[in-house]
Amino acid sequence: MRGYPRRLILIIGIVVFVFFCTRLLVGRLVLPLADDEAPSSSSTHGPQRLAENLSALVARAYVPGMYMRGEKPKNNTGCAWKYGLPNIFYYPVDKLHFTPQGGEDGPYRVLPFIIRSSESELTPRLTFCTHATADLVYNIVEIVKRWEGPVSLAVFSPSRDAALAVRLLDRACRCLPEMRKLSVHLIFPANRIPIIASDYYLPEDGDCAALDLQWERLESVAERRDQGVTYPINVARNVAKTLAMTTRVLVADIELLPSDKLASGFFKMINGQPPNKGLAFVVPVFEIEETQQPPKNKRELMAAINKDLAVYFHKYMCIHCQRFPGITKWMLRPDPGRVRPLIVTRREYPHHRWEPVFIGTQDDPLYNENMTWEGRQEKMSQMLEMCLMNYHLIILDGAFLVHTPGIKRKTYQLNPSKSTFERTQEVLNAQIYQSITQNLLKQYPINRKCRQ
Ligand SMILES: *[C@@H]1O[C@H](CO)[C@@H](O)[C@H](O)[C@H]1NC(C)=O
Ligand SMILES: *[C@@H]1O[C@H](CO)[C@@H](O)[C@H](O)[C@H]1NC(C)=O
Ligand SMILES: *[C@@H]1O[C@H](CO)[C@@H](O)[C@H](O)[C@H]1NC(C)=O
Repeated sequence: MRGYPRRLILIIGIVVFVFFCTRLLVGRLVLPLADDEAPSSSSTHGPQRLAENLSALVARAYVPGMYMRGEKPKNNTGCAWKYGLPNIFYYPVDKLHFTPQGGEDGPYRVLPFIIRSSESELTPRLTFCTHATADLVYNIVEIVKRWEGPVSLAVFSPSRDAALAVRLLDRACRCLPEMRKLSVHLIFPANRIPIIASDYYLPEDGDCAALDLQWERLESVAERRDQGVTYPINVARNVAKTLAMTTRVLVADIELLPSDKLASGFFKMINGQPPNKGLAFVVPVFEIEETQQPPKNKRELMAAINKDLAVYFHKYMCIHCQRFPGITKWMLRPDPGRVRPLIVTRREYPHHRWEPVFIGTQDDPLYNENMTWEGRQEKMSQMLEMCLMNYHLIILDGAFLVHTPGIKRKTYQLNPSKSTFERTQEVLNAQIYQSITQNLLKQYPINRKCRQ
C-alpha cells in the first residue's frame, strides 16, 4: 500500500513532464506559423489585417472615408446617441436584450440603439442591415454615403472593443451628415460586456478620414484572436435585421458597397407591390482589385470585368458560393440604367451551396446563431430553410454589391499558416450544419432538390 502514493506521484510527474515537452514542441511548430499570412475567409474580418499598417492603408486606392481626408470633424455630432455616449457610458441593465435566436440561455447580449436614426431618414423604406467587428466600423461611412435608405449596424464589441467602435462612430458622426440614416446596436458575449473607460477619449486631432483610428484596429483584431474570441456573425446579422425600422431589408456585410440608387431603383421596379411571402430579390456580388475605385454602376463594373480587374465575389475562394444562376446572361446584358428582374430561380441543385445576398423581409428565416464567421459557409442553413419553404429568388439586373478592398484569393491551401483555431471552427460549423439540416428536414415537407 505504501508504494501507491509514491508511484502515483511518479506517474503524475511523468505526465506533467510529457505535457510540457509536448507544449514546447507544439509551440515551436505552431507559433512561427501563426503570424504568417492568415487565412482568408467567407467574409473579410480577420487577422489578415495584422499584415497591414498605416502606410499600406494609404497606398490603397480605396480606404473607407478617404474622400474626407483633411476635413476637420465638427464640434457637434450629427447622430442621436443614447446612454450618455459618446462622452460617458451608462445603461440600465434592463436595456440589455437577448439575441433573436439565442434567448436567455444564449451566450450573447444586445444593447440596442446606442444610436437611433432620425425618423425623417427612413425612406426609401428598405434598410441596409449590416454588421462589423469594431476594427471595421469605419466602413460605414461608405455605406451611408451610397445607400439611400436607413442603415442598421450591429457592432461586435466585447470588452474594450466598444471604446474603439464608439470613437470611430463619433468621428463619423461629426464628419458626415449622412450618418443620420444610421442606427447602431452593440452585441457582445454575456461575460465580456462592453467597457468604455472614462479616459478612453484622449484628445485627438485626426481628420475625417480617421486613419489615426483605423490604424488602431489592428490591436483589437490581435486581442480577439489571442483570446480565442470568435465572431458571432449570424447573431450580428439577426440583430441588425430584427431591429431595422422597415419590413424590407437587405442583409449584407459591411465591406459590400451597394451600386448607386439601388434602394430607389428597387422601389421603382416593384411599383408599389407589398412584400410577397416566399420571394426574395438577389443582388449579385462582385469584387474588384484594390488598385481600383469600386464601381458605382453596371457600366463601370463591366468595364472593370472586361479588363480582368473585377470578378464575381469569391470566385477564387469558393467557386460555388456566389456564382449565381443566370450569371452569363447578366454579364452579356449592357447596363439597363435601372433595376430590373433578370430571371427567377431557386436555391436548388446545382446551386445548393450558393449563399446569395438578397432583398427580403424581416420575416425571412433567421441566420443560425451558433455558427461563427471563422467557421465559414455560415449562411447555408438559412438558404436550405428558404429552399424547403419554396422561396423564389429573383436575380436583379442593374443592381449589385461590390466587395472592397481587393479580390480575395485562396492563399491558405498553399500556405500552412491556416491556424488550428480556424480549422476547429470550420469543423464546428459543419457539425452544426449537419444537425440543423436534420431538424429542418423534419420540419418541412420533403424536397429532394434542396440538397444539403
Ligand atoms: C509597414 O509596411 C511596409 C510594407 O508593407 C513596411 O515597409 C514598413 O516597415 C511597415 N511599417 C511599420 C511601422 O510596421
Ligand atoms: C470647436 O471647438 C474648438 C475648441 O473648443 C473651437 O476653437 C472652435 O472654434 C470650435 N469650432 C466651431 C465650428 O464651433
Ligand atoms: C445552438 O446551440 C445550443 C447549445 O448547443 C442549442 O441548445 C441550440 O438549440 C442551438 N440553436 C440552434 C438554433 O441551432
